[in-house]
Amino acid sequence: MPMEHLNQRLGIPGIARFDEGEGGLARLTLTTPDAAAEIYLHGAHVTQYRRRGQPPVLWMSRKSWFEPTRPIRGGVPVIFPWFGARTGEAPPGAASPNHGFARLMVWHPDAVVQERDEVRALFSLHPTASTRATWPYEFELRFTVTLAPGCLRMTLEVENTDAKPFRFEEALHTYFTVGDVRQVKVHGLEGASYLDKVANGPVRQPAQPITVAGETDRLYTGTTAECVLDDASLGRRISVRKRGSNSTVVWNPWTAKAAAMPDFDDHEWPGMICIETANAAADAVTLPPGETHVMEAEIA
Ligand code: BG6
Repeated sequence: MPMEHLNQRLGIPGIARFDEGEGGLARLTLTTPDAAAEIYLHGAHVTQYRRRGQPPVLWMSRKSWFEPTRPIRGGVPVIFPWFGARTGEAPPGAASPNHGFARLMVWHPDAVVQERDEVRALFSLHPTASTRATWPYEFELRFTVTLAPGCLRMTLEVENTDAKPFRFEEALHTYFTVGDVRQVKVHGLEGASYLDKVANGPVRQPAQPITVAGETDRLYTGTTAECVLDDASLGRRISVRKRGSNSTVVWNPWTAKAAAMPDFDDHEWPGMICIETANAAADAVTLPPGETHVMEAEIA
């Protein structure tokens, strides 16, 4: 859709504007007196959130692709309907991309609303021939990005519009900018159980905050806790509050995995950490027909 049509329909002068972003992909920029955010229609992908006068909150790889068939590296990929590699049954010949198809599709921009001191953008995603071939269910996804004073709120709604129940996994796969990942502490998951995807086994977090000293890929399950990312080198604390989410994923690829990813610069890993609001593995959601599940992350 041409940018001028999008701006005529949804733009708000000085507050919400569509343009062609990296790779010519459609991008929405939201601006409020204290913050700005960017969202690509490709994946309904938030690629930037920054508070006025501060370094970016979200991390983006210098080597990210901005291509219609590939995921964006950084920001907040929306993961649905499976997390990581697909498990369980798949239709014969189905394409099963890592982390599902939602981050690879162009979402529909439904509305941009300014109310009091908040601005929010609403997007939706519906089944296509290609999603039905890989995941044979009818659904509606709605994703709302809200810039509110002091925080970014992201709300993912999954509605089952099918006649049969379905089971899904989901994540708001948030990449944070940090001064040096080796010096950060993540509070909130003390004592929680996790699947260590590096050692490939179950572990329990000791009664201490998380620190990162090597490749870290952990799926914490059964936790609704708020996390606080304490970044001494940038001198800031970021809180991640959530609802409708029982899993939290903490990820840093460290040296070898970073070097193996073509869309991740070899030397970028110290500058990021993912804290992902999710429902995955044992926390996958079974949704009966006609029902809606809501998961929300608030970054402050
Ligand atoms: C994390 C997973 O959520 O995403 C990791 O726990 C994975 O295992 C990472 O490597 C990145 O995935 P992708 O598909 O964006 O390279």
